[in-house]
Amino acid sequence: MLRTIIKTADGSHSLFVEELNEHYHSIHGAIQESKHVFIDAGLKPFVICSSDLYRGGKGPLAILEIGLGTGLNAMLTYIETQKSDIKIHYTAIEAYPVSGDLTDQLNYVELLNAQVLQPVYTTIHACEWGIPVALSNQFTILKIKNTLQEAVLENSYHLIYFDAFGPGVQPEMWTEEIFAKLFASVESGGCLVTYCAKGEVKRTLKRVGFTVESLPGPPGKREMVRARKN
Ligand SMILES: C[S@@+](CC[C@H](N)C(=O)[O-])C[C@H]1O[C@@H](n2cnc3c(N)ncnc32)[C@H](O)[C@@H]1O
Repeated sequence: MLRTIIKTADGSHSLFVEELNEHYHSIHGAIQESKHVFIDAGLKPFVICSSDLYRGGKGPLAILEIGLGTGLNAMLTYIETQKSDIKIHYTAIEAYPVSGDLTDQLNYVELLNAQVLQPVYTTIHACEWGIPVALSNQFTILKIKNTLQEAVLENSYHLIYFDAFGPGVQPEMWTEEIFAKLFASVESGGCLVTYCAKGEVKRTLKRVGFTVESLPGPPGKREMVRARKN
């Protein structure tokens, strides 16, 4: 997969995939979009309502990311752990990893004013696949190099960051079968968040059992989706 670095409207980098004619993030702002969709609408409600789902001796908050890609969502999530006492176990599935040559050139650490976190960002990409790696005493990452279709999921995630390429270019990632697999892997009370709010996607999420909420999207997008397993 040939990928080139582009700059999005908030100054942060993203990748463009020529064969799909698709970007990894919104061209209106990669960091802006990731923060809005995955951190603010996904992670933060869990951190704020810290009592209900994953605390009380139940262990860390278990996050599953579909598509590790540039590692931006993992990095932003790591940064959130620095601001609270939350513990996170972050599992990221990636079928087509981005090479170190490319990730070394991305400007996320610089733009997030997180130079001290450069080793963390480097380790997110350099660490071994298939083995949980503690990046701090609050954040452990497990990278799975496989397709979502083939991967065997645990049934204990509290939060899913669904960050596949859009249904227009990768419809096989937005099927009832895929969402049913994800629904089964979420704890009761858990959520899936995604940037895509297409009607058909919302209907498919509902069909497999999720309760679907449309939320305001990041700049440049009217809506995003948070789907909850009640
Ligand atoms: C929209 S990009 C987002 C990546 C990442 N979240 C980021 O912020 O850079 C979608 C990602 O899904 C990965 N992907 C594509 N098909 C996949 C599949 N079948 N299973 C798992 N990952 C896949 C791509 O390689 C890519 O990294």
